[in-house]
Amino acid sequence: MSFDLVLFGGTGDLAWRKLMPALFQAFRHGTLPEGGRIIAVARDDLSDEQYRSLIQSRFDSVELAKRPTPDEFARFAALLNYLRMDLSKTQDYERLAETLKARGADSVVMYVATAPSLFTNVCEQIAAVGLNGPTTRVVLEKPLGHDLQSNRAINDTLRRVLKEEQVFRIDHYLGKPSVQNLFALRFGNALFEPLWRRETIANIQITIAEELGVESRGAFYDQTGAMRDMVQNHALQLLCAIGMEPPINSSANAIRDEKLKVLQSLKPWTLETIGQHVIRGQYAAGNHQGQPVPGYAQEKGVAPGSTTETFVALRTEISNWRWAGVPFYIRTGKRLAGRDAHIVINFRPVPHPIFKTPAGAANRLVINLQPKDGLELHLMAQGAAQHQTEPALSQVHLNLDFDQRFGTERVGAYERLLLDVIAGRLNLFVRSDEQEEAWRWVEPILQYWKNDPAGPRPYPAGSWGPRAASAMIARDGYCWSEEM
Ligand code: BG6
Repeated sequence: MSFDLVLFGGTGDLAWRKLMPALFQAFRHGTLPEGGRIIAVARDDLSDEQYRSLIQSRFDSVELAKRPTPDEFARFAALLNYLRMDLSKTQDYERLAETLKARGADSVVMYVATAPSLFTNVCEQIAAVGLNGPTTRVVLEKPLGHDLQSNRAINDTLRRVLKEEQVFRIDHYLGKPSVQNLFALRFGNALFEPLWRRETIANIQITIAEELGVESRGAFYDQTGAMRDMVQNHALQLLCAIGMEPPINSSANAIRDEKLKVLQSLKPWTLETIGQHVIRGQYAAGNHQGQPVPGYAQEKGVAPGSTTETFVALRTEISNWRWAGVPFYIRTGKRLAGRDAHIVINFRPVPHPIFKTPAGAANRLVINLQPKDGLELHLMAQGAAQHQTEPALSQVHLNLDFDQRFGTERVGAYERLLLDVIAGRLNLFVRSDEQEEAWRWVEPILQYWKNDPAGPRPYPAGSWGPRAASAMIARDGYCWSEEM
């Protein structure tokens, strides 16, 4: 199956850091379909050869095991072409159309890795020169909008020029092997599904903690914040994967229908619940791996006195028969104590304890997403204390390490997602209604913050966030996973 992959923003950060390395890995693994051509598009005046040399030099900063040998690069580079375009000029799209039509590949992928403000214009221009036919697929990165209204406006434009099944909205968390394993855990095993409900589960915690600060993205991040950057998309997608009903089959729409229902069932916010159940924080100066680091307000590109949140912790519920009353806690932030993304399913304690157990002991399933990728099942067992007259149990855990089991050379998120776009598989991409529903749900919180003079709570870089996040969960009688 031949394909043309047009990469708008071909000299941009995403192209260097993620897309080219991912395409090369697919090429190295032999999974990139033969007969492919990659056309990088940008404003710079470069020849194909100059672009290839640029890419080659960028590969020097990729981790050693993922760097091409000179021979591999020469073969990969043969796929790379460069086209200079001014994205505001229709005649430049006409030139692109000529290039593509001359070859007539089986599928054409337009990866719009540009500034978000250009997304709709690029899509309209593609359509204006007749490049929106059934073989075209358009890939869009987040952020798709800033709020519900702007997201709807983008989706309305997309609907006018493309069919929904031509639009691939990327949430790279869905491409992570650990997240796909979450679907496998739930829908490839009969063991957990009967327990996956309010009768047996006390609460669920989703944590995406990052150690890094805003790095070089201060100006972008200051307009965005953790709610838009992480909660509206990645964290809610994880919540959907945990909370959804088993889909009727593995087709994209069957999966997306079930995720949509979860988003529609999230408990609506009131001013009172936002005040009590949503905590926002901003990192102050602190430590990162033993070195002092500045606070968010001192980062380059951040406006003086900025009230942008770098941390969010919240409690919500899925109002349906399966989950009514079970708290789902979400927590994400930058400059936290570690890079650690995991989901904890806390089961209810036994209904009638006959053994002595450690205080608060109950079964727990921990789904580790990163940096470790695996499962831990916490159980009670009779261990060292056997000689005691009164039987006492202690907590032990079964540990399944997917990196050890399957090797660390698994397909990365962008590699997986790019291969899926080329093959036209939409399962791991977000549909417009899902995205709008997620915006609809976060919108009242964003509004509330706009009018809240209190601003975000400071927390020291290198900590687990503001103390109020622990107090919020403690009111329900629970604590975050690292405090267990
Ligand atoms: C991106 C956010 O979507 O996800 C970044 O814009 C964040 O701010 C990143 O750092 C986290 O992704 P990962 O894969 O490193 O957990």
